[in-house]
Amino acid sequence: MHSDQLEISRRDLLISSAAAVAVTGAATVAAAQPSGSDMALTSKLSLTVNGKRHDIEIDNRTTLLDALREHLHLTGTKKGCDHGQCGACTVMVDGRRINSCLTLAVMHGGDQVTTIEGLGQPGDLHPMQAAFVKHDGFQCGYCTPGQICSSVAVLEEIKANIPSHVTGDLTAQAQVTPAEIRERMSGNICRCGAYSNILDAIVEVAGTKA
Ligand code: FES
Ligand code: FES
Repeated sequence: MHSDQLEISRRDLLISSAAAVAVTGAATVAAAQPSGSDMALTSKLSLTVNGKRHDIEIDNRTTLLDALREHLHLTGTKKGCDHGQCGACTVMVDGRRINSCLTLAVMHGGDQVTTIEGLGQPGDLHPMQAAFVKHDGFQCGYCTPGQICSSVAVLEEIKANIPSHVTGDLTAQAQVTPAEIRERMSGNICRCGAYSNILDAIVEVAGTKA
């Protein structure tokens, strides 16, 4: 055989071998992953919000915050940072406050979610909402739903004797002190700086002294 022909044959052999490896690899990947039609991108979900059950189908990547605002149209809960840093999106899940931007809605089927709309309404305000109004605990109001949900949960946390970083005596019942409230509310940012009035409102509802 001529040396040129031998060279071409070698090159053809290498190309065909590489193609065979690529096809085998692609087949392995295809076997490991479900096909597009098999992949569940959405879920059917029953969300109980403010005592009302909602049956929805949503993208699995939807946060609880977006489910509340975009799917259930409960826009009282605000989106500030969308990164767990401002507290504007605070809601209560089974009585505990969480940042709804940091959790997926599909994780909360069967949970009891409470938003600012569920705490009270005009004409029938929750005592914490009334106290915020009385003490001017807001200016623009953007952080306020989160502040109020957080405040209500904070008083429950103290009642349940859950310690904070400033709780001194872990063997005694936690007290509602201004220092405890400030520490526990530190995840709720108010860009208007209404902090002293917010503290006054919480202190009044707690029945303690600032
Ligand atoms: Fe959730 Fe800021 S929007 S913490
Ligand atoms: Fe404006 Fe708090 S009242 S951010």
